[in-house]
Amino acid sequence: MKVVHKVKRLKSLVKKSASKTIGLVPTMGALHDGHLSLVKRAIESSDVVVVSIYVNPTQFNDKSDYARYPHTVKADIKALRELLRAQDIVFVPTDEEMYPEPDTRHFDFGKVEQVMEGPLRPGHFNGVGQIVSKLFMLVEPDKAFFGLKDFQQVAVIKNLVKQLGMNIEIVPCPIIREKDGLAMSSRNRLLEADRRAVAPIISKAIYAAAEKFGKEEIAEIKKGVVDTIDGTGLLKVEYFEVVDDTELVPIYSNADIDPSKKYYGCGAVQAGAIRLIDNVAMN
Ligand code: PAJ
Repeated sequence: MKVVHKVKRLKSLVKKSASKTIGLVPTMGALHDGHLSLVKRAIESSDVVVVSIYVNPTQFNDKSDYARYPHTVKADIKALRELLRAQDIVFVPTDEEMYPEPDTRHFDFGKVEQVMEGPLRPGHFNGVGQIVSKLFMLVEPDKAFFGLKDFQQVAVIKNLVKQLGMNIEIVPCPIIREKDGLAMSSRNRLLEADRRAVAPIISKAIYAAAEKFGKEEIAEIKKGVVDTIDGTGLLKVEYFEVVDDTELVPIYSNADIDPSKKYYGCGAVQAGAIRLIDNVAMN
């Protein structure tokens, strides 16, 4: 495995791999088994895997979130060395490498950015679009691997690839959870002990909602999730929506359920200063 810091060197390495299938796994580091599951999927189906580690400033709408975001590059590289093969690449650029000029592009992802994270994190998906499109242009991968932990991000990236006419297969990968059910996240390590202790209730509440889907009214199900999580006194639900998996349109009544569609219950929870997201398939 090669560790590369410069765009120029990355480009020359991927150029040499032109006849091979290239799989890209974009990350912001502080790697955990969730990230590593994407890397494993990429290795299974690509001749050359590129893993990027870069905490992208343009996608942080909250400056303090950016300031405290964990950086563990040495440990990340060590973990990747155990998985990646000789031909694979870890790309760890600096801000200057990624943004030699400020990125002034504005994306419009339409419907999929108008719900849930979109209005609550203004500019977030635009920043994701900026960095991911840059990585796509640099690496020109055949496939790119994204976790369903960031359910809405997957929809945004699919839209991005269509808009830009890029021939890249977006491979969604399942959420990896801690033994107690908490979705793995780089931000989990920032949780205060008492909040970390109650945090598994988030996935438990959404799993319970999935059990009731189609049987109880959506409004009741949603209220159940909010009451259960807020009832801890340590966690506060920011939103909980039931949306379809392609257009991400929220449904508010059982009359809106289209049995041909797949629905997910998606939520964001404030745990002190730390924000957690999670989702579970409803049907
Ligand atoms: P980051 O939060 O580091 O996540 C990198 C990838 O790992 C994303 O596709 C995310 O969905 C996936 N991932 C995170 N936790 C996971 C879990 N518990 N199970 C499965 N997959 C998980 O998402 C980003 O970085 C950034 O927005 C990025 C796409 C790199 C652009 O900067």
